[in-house]
Amino acid sequence: MCGIIGYLGYREAYPILINGLKKLEYRGYDSSGIAIFYENGYSLYKSKGKVHELKKKISSYKIKGTTGIGHTRWATHGIPDDINAHPHVSNSNELILIHNGIIENYHAIKIILLKNGFTFKSKTDTEVLVNLIEYIQKKNKLSLEEAVRISLNEIVGAYSIAIVEKSHPERIVIAKLGSPLALGINEREFFIASDPIPFLDYTKNAIYLKDGEMAILRKDQELDLRKIVDNHKLSPIIKELQINLKEIEKGEYKYFMLKEIYEQPKTILDTLRGRLLIKNGLICINGIESNKDIFINAKSITIVACGTSWHASLIGEYLLEELARIPVEVEYASEFRYRNPIIEKKDIVIVISQSGETADTLSALNLAKTKGAFVFGICNVVGSSIARNVDAGAYTHAGPEIGVASTKAFTAQITVLVLLALKIGKYRLAITESRYNYLCQELGSIPEKVNRTLKIDEESIKKISKVYHNVNNFLYLGRGINFPVALEGALKLKEISYIHAEGYPAAEMKHGPIALIDENMPVVIIATKKGCYEKIIGNIQEIKARKGKIIAIVNEGDIQVSMLADYVIKVPNISEELSPLVTVIPLQLLAYQIAFIRGENVDQPRNLAKSVTVE
Ligand code: AGP
Ligand code: GLU
Repeated sequence: MCGIIGYLGYREAYPILINGLKKLEYRGYDSSGIAIFYENGYSLYKSKGKVHELKKKISSYKIKGTTGIGHTRWATHGIPDDINAHPHVSNSNELILIHNGIIENYHAIKIILLKNGFTFKSKTDTEVLVNLIEYIQKKNKLSLEEAVRISLNEIVGAYSIAIVEKSHPERIVIAKLGSPLALGINEREFFIASDPIPFLDYTKNAIYLKDGEMAILRKDQELDLRKIVDNHKLSPIIKELQINLKEIEKGEYKYFMLKEIYEQPKTILDTLRGRLLIKNGLICINGIESNKDIFINAKSITIVACGTSWHASLIGEYLLEELARIPVEVEYASEFRYRNPIIEKKDIVIVISQSGETADTLSALNLAKTKGAFVFGICNVVGSSIARNVDAGAYTHAGPEIGVASTKAFTAQITVLVLLALKIGKYRLAITESRYNYLCQELGSIPEKVNRTLKIDEESIKKISKVYHNVNNFLYLGRGINFPVALEGALKLKEISYIHAEGYPAAEMKHGPIALIDENMPVVIIATKKGCYEKIIGNIQEIKARKGKIIAIVNEGDIQVSMLADYVIKVPNISEELSPLVTVIPLQLLAYQIAFIRGENVDQPRNLAKSVTVE
């Protein structure tokens, strides 16, 4: 994963790099480092831990230089420590490199380099790459850019890199394959970053490097963009980014996650805006309209995603099967890409990803394309790799999601999936006019209902969190379309509070997990009126008979479950198809409150990163 940053121009590089790294920390935060260059030399600082540790370490130094590179790491090879932190330096001390990704064939290359007298300080694959470049450069007496290009043609894996030669601080060479890389361009200066946010204060003119591209950045010169494979010169297409910086500030909230939970009435509305036209009974989604026949004739759909996006996909399966009557398979992207999935020409594959950069999902997308599938993307980050590579798609419009635990992106994904299922259902005449119109009305009421849920639940959730923040296990149960919500509730709790939690279909409990239930086991059960209400009451009785504690998510006005449960959290009534949009809200809040009481860093949980750009 990790975040990379770089600057070349006329300003002091240090503040740009250190502030930029803080904005990239969501990508990894186990160690960080910077290198700043001056004539014939450089200052290199690295530190284990978060960027503020690095900053603390070097705050008293005068770091001068107008070229620099920096890195915040999410370790893949070698533990997080000062030595394994980036930048990495070649044996001769001439080349300095930062890298996001994995060099898969690093071991074989390392053996060759060792035989040629190279030594290694770190355990990283990155240090192998910087020395390979040096080896090739010295052996063939090449310019840095040519040595980088030839080396990268020997590499198997994924990377976005930036490299500087000590004796030529007026030049940075960058390259990309698999991992993201944005380049900000101003008069007489370049900014490099894993996403454009760190340089938005300086410029909105940017390009996203494509896979297989490299660029040579030189002081006071035009951008030189090339293909890694054959050095073919390319004409850069510079675009003006449309990103609102206000959206990436915490405002009055202690954590981004809390802000993002509370933003959901607005983000769902933003996702619906211009798409759900209730008065005319219309749903407008360009990506579907311009491919109408493909969806009408679909025999099946495969949805591929990871993590929370995979949970949204399961909800999508329910919606598309129920409303559009198309058989749907949901796959983990990491599994899909390594089997031989049965995908025929023109089959539909939907990929779902908040970041649009998840390596497994991106590879699954590419695999589906090579098999001739029509790939439709549901992404949040505009211009991300997945968004750029699909045949058609729909953005979720949830705005930047900074908290590592996904919340508003999840409800935005479900919103898009509801729109999709209704639209395709109508095209295929799989849904009656009255049900379609009713669900459109209901969908329109969601932002207000989510708002109400947020207001109702706050106090009761704080109370429950105080009681249960010290337990070791939680069980989450749901049925039908709320089973994936149970999975999502459990994932949220695990991610940020480190309490073990499992999600199960409520009726499946008796086939195993019931063995875990005793008086210390809180069970969160989604028991809204629609769906299998009576059956769920049976499941609750089974838990109570074994002294388990019930935290029930019920509809306003509920009586039966409320009488049985130890704690009750109320959500507004809504059609079953749309219920995940409200039932997930208390589960997000519960995870947040428990983690908060436990004193965890809610936005940057241990071992995780927002954007998983490695396998
Ligand atoms: C969600 O809380 C997680 N941090 C994680 O499971 C995430 O959903 C997963 O990595 C997929 O990310 P994506 O949606 O950006 O592809
Ligand atoms: N593979 C490199 C390392 O372990 C980079 C990791 C990353 O991209 O996060 O240091």
